Amino acid sequence: MSTQSSQWNNNTAFLLAATGSAVGLGNIWGFPYKAAENGGGLFVLLYIFFVITLGFPVFMAEVFIGKKGKSNPVSSVESLAIKSNSSKSWGIVGYAGILASLIIAGYYAVIAGFVIDYGFISAQGVTEGTAKDIWVTQQSTFWDMTFWTLLFIFGSCYVVANGIDAGIDKAMRFLLPMLFVLVISMVGYGAYQGDFNAGLDYLFSAKTDKFNSPGEVAAIVQAAIGQAFFSLSIGMGTLMAFGSYMPSSQKVSKASSVVVTADTGVALLAGLAIFPLAFGLGFNPEENAFGGSALVFETMPEAFAKLGVLGQIVGPLFFFLLAVAAFSSMISILEPSVAFLTQKFSMTRLKATGIILLVCISLSLVSIAGHNVWKDVSLGALDNPFEFMKYFADDFLLLLVGTGMSVFVGWRLQSVVDKQTMGITSTAFMSLWIFILKWISPVFLMTIWVLGNAQVLFDQDLIAQVISLF
Ligand code: TRP
Repeated sequence: MSTQSSQWNNNTAFLLAATGSAVGLGNIWGFPYKAAENGGGLFVLLYIFFVITLGFPVFMAEVFIGKKGKSNPVSSVESLAIKSNSSKSWGIVGYAGILASLIIAGYYAVIAGFVIDYGFISAQGVTEGTAKDIWVTQQSTFWDMTFWTLLFIFGSCYVVANGIDAGIDKAMRFLLPMLFVLVISMVGYGAYQGDFNAGLDYLFSAKTDKFNSPGEVAAIVQAAIGQAFFSLSIGMGTLMAFGSYMPSSQKVSKASSVVVTADTGVALLAGLAIFPLAFGLGFNPEENAFGGSALVFETMPEAFAKLGVLGQIVGPLFFFLLAVAAFSSMISILEPSVAFLTQKFSMTRLKATGIILLVCISLSLVSIAGHNVWKDVSLGALDNPFEFMKYFADDFLLLLVGTGMSVFVGWRLQSVVDKQTMGITSTAFMSLWIFILKWISPVFLMTIWVLGNAQVLFDQDLIAQVISLF
């Protein structure tokens, strides 16, 4: 029998924990490079648009399930399904979320490992012109990567094992203020040393001329939605778990809007920390690596190298910021599965964390190997096991779970949803929210899911094929 989960012992804990979860590598490592890969401004505008229209409503749905179900992701969904005379099989949404969380943990820790590694590398100073070689070398060393990754996994498991108040809440109280100070300092430094206007222009002007085919636009839309969901921590039970610890006086809508705003703000700030500095020092997307991990692990170290001795201070601070952001997110990635084991099998938190630790380590080894020993093991359009894990969790599972939660709340929980818990007084807003969950988000998410998977897994451009019929 599952036991009742505990509760945050104060009203700011949810806000801190959910913001700490949302603001992570997705904002600082992911958002800028995805913006760069997708031509800058148009992607950013679409991203903001989808955060507001789809991300925010589905975010609230997930928090609502947790708050109302008052348990781990699986049990919350199951108990609400029973309450609303629906099938208990809805629990599969919770299981899929937990599966996604474990896979994300496996690859997320590896990137975080690089981040720590680069904190030290940049403190020692990088000679101009060598950053590319360093990045190639760092990825080729299985054991070094394993060392940094394990350090990160043990650290985050330590916090989770200590429970939600003494572990998670306590850590977030300390990590989040640090994160905000760091990100704002980096933006300030970028504005001072770099070319702020070039950065702004790059991020916010929609260069629509770059995209002439509908297939290309569909790809950007998919990237923008995927990024919005990932960055908001939607779709793998984190928000259900954190929502389940919410005190009853806290309102879902208000709390969610704080977290969504903070997360989007930090993503934009991260762009404003990176691009002005990069442009100001003479880097540009045509000649330098702005896409993928290379933006942060190759171009940025090269930029710090150009700053000379100063780079040995700014560089480590930048990677420290990334490490703090990654750490608070990793804690939240582990929580759903730990809560599930503790409650479902009446385990101690320590034992549950121990099991998840082992699962995480095994998955991270696969992901590490994807950078070196299994570098050439490709699956479809996915180059290696690391890319495969990233794709399967972020693009395949998250959108499925997001759709599942949206449909569940919109169609099945009508009798359970109440204005009180949501903190929405206006009937019009309530209806709009339900309407989005019922129709807009499932149709949109599933369309994008089908188009994206057809492209990546089967190399089929469905939009182009439909157009060619006319
Ligand atoms: N949102 C975090 C980031 O931007 C990552 C993350 C934490 C996450 N918990 C999640 C992503 C739950 C999806 C689901 O880096």
